[in-house]
Amino acid sequence: MNKYIGIDLGTSAVKILLVSADGQVLKTVSREYPIFYPQSGWSEQNPEDWYDAVIDGLKEIVYGVEADTIKGISFGGQMHGLVILDKDDNVIRPAILWNDGRTQKQTDYLNNVIGTDKLSDCTANIAFAGFTAPKILWVKENEPENFDRISKIMLPKDYIAYKLSGVFATDFSDASGMLLLDVKNRCWNKEMCDICNVTEDMLPSLFESYEKIGNLLPEISDEVGLPADVVITIGAGDNAAAAIGTGTVNNGSCNISLGTSGTVFVSQDKFFVDDKNSLHSFCHANGAYHLMGCILSAASCNKWWMENILESEDFAYEQTNMEEMLGNNDVYFLPYLMGERSPHNDVAAKGAFIGLRPETSRKQLTLAVFEGVAFALKDCVEIAKDGGVRIEQTKICGGGAKSKVWRKIIANVLGIPVVRPTVEEGPAYGGAILAMVACGEFSSVSDATDSLIKDNGIIMPDEEIVAKYEKKYQTFKKLYPALKNVYKDM
Ligand code: XUL
Repeated sequence: MNKYIGIDLGTSAVKILLVSADGQVLKTVSREYPIFYPQSGWSEQNPEDWYDAVIDGLKEIVYGVEADTIKGISFGGQMHGLVILDKDDNVIRPAILWNDGRTQKQTDYLNNVIGTDKLSDCTANIAFAGFTAPKILWVKENEPENFDRISKIMLPKDYIAYKLSGVFATDFSDASGMLLLDVKNRCWNKEMCDICNVTEDMLPSLFESYEKIGNLLPEISDEVGLPADVVITIGAGDNAAAAIGTGTVNNGSCNISLGTSGTVFVSQDKFFVDDKNSLHSFCHANGAYHLMGCILSAASCNKWWMENILESEDFAYEQTNMEEMLGNNDVYFLPYLMGERSPHNDVAAKGAFIGLRPETSRKQLTLAVFEGVAFALKDCVEIAKDGGVRIEQTKICGGGAKSKVWRKIIANVLGIPVVRPTVEEGPAYGGAILAMVACGEFSSVSDATDSLIKDNGIIMPDEEIVAKYEKKYQTFKKLYPALKNVYKDM
């Protein structure tokens, strides 16, 4: 049977899946790479580290497999990261990532001087510090010698696709997060490019996520042991790819991703922008659109809490008997370890525990971390509601979704059923599905998701716990406004 490779170029690691045409995950490989925080609130990675990890991972995925049966590769990738190459295709500087907060000045310039109305008219979005356009302006202002060398601007997964195929390409879902794309009409926006001093020849060619862009380069096929006719499909930003991987393709359907970031992703058949541009309005990987709220720290809060603070690897132990405590915790956690995107758009926001007493236990703090992330996701769901978008149930994926108690907290904080698909590696699985569509295994993305995605259980909200969490959320909502000015002084 034909096989396909899905590559999820994440923030902490690349995850690579080998999937058969009937949707079975045959093999999973992961390779980590470093993240650098050169200054507080900045975050960078070396594109070469991503590439080395992908090549190494591909070798392992292919090892022991009949390579001729592998027909295609596609991607889900961390969004918004600025990768810049010079005329000889050298990487000019480390990539500035989606959760980097250095661009407050440029973001304010775009929102206040160019103006949110103009940005929204041109791109369907306003500026957030993590988006690509403010980063381009930052490089121009702070590293003019690097800016002058720019020949190509691309997103993280597009760098890998370029290295594997030699084709300079991106897809509409990922390009949406650059603030250079006219999302509604699926083309680059000349006015925004002018504002950012970018010419169209610096930008990749645009494709639908399920379109073939080329074939594996002969030298790469020799190196990793794959046939040279393997089809490279451009894939999608990780959230749109995760939506494909969880079957979130029908109008109004929702997926929550609990990865390094946390996202609430709502699929839309038609283009839609909410009045205040509070949600991102982006293209979907199935040719349609979606709305999204993004919190910058989600499963990464628990990783930080477990690894850096508790110095424990025993995730299961820290969560024992926690289910009995749901709704009864008096400690609050604000998950703004990297500042916050939705809904606060504030790079100065920081993490906090509030409500500590001498009797406060370690378990209450761990629970507060889970609940704080769930409340921050509720902030995104609330702005969707204000914009007229109803979310009736959600899929869930990402590393954090492995925790049953966290899924239960989310179901009760949001007051909606939470469905877990059988395959949890949303973006990589979505990438493999997009490769299948490009290679003709299915006639459309929804044809593929209808036959491949299976659910693995649903958690229903419990009325009593929902009521308790609703009360606590009202308190949570007051905490950021109370601390906002304090954060600025810190
Ligand atoms: C979405 C976003 C994050 C990254 C994480 O807008 O910034 O979800 O894509 O990889």
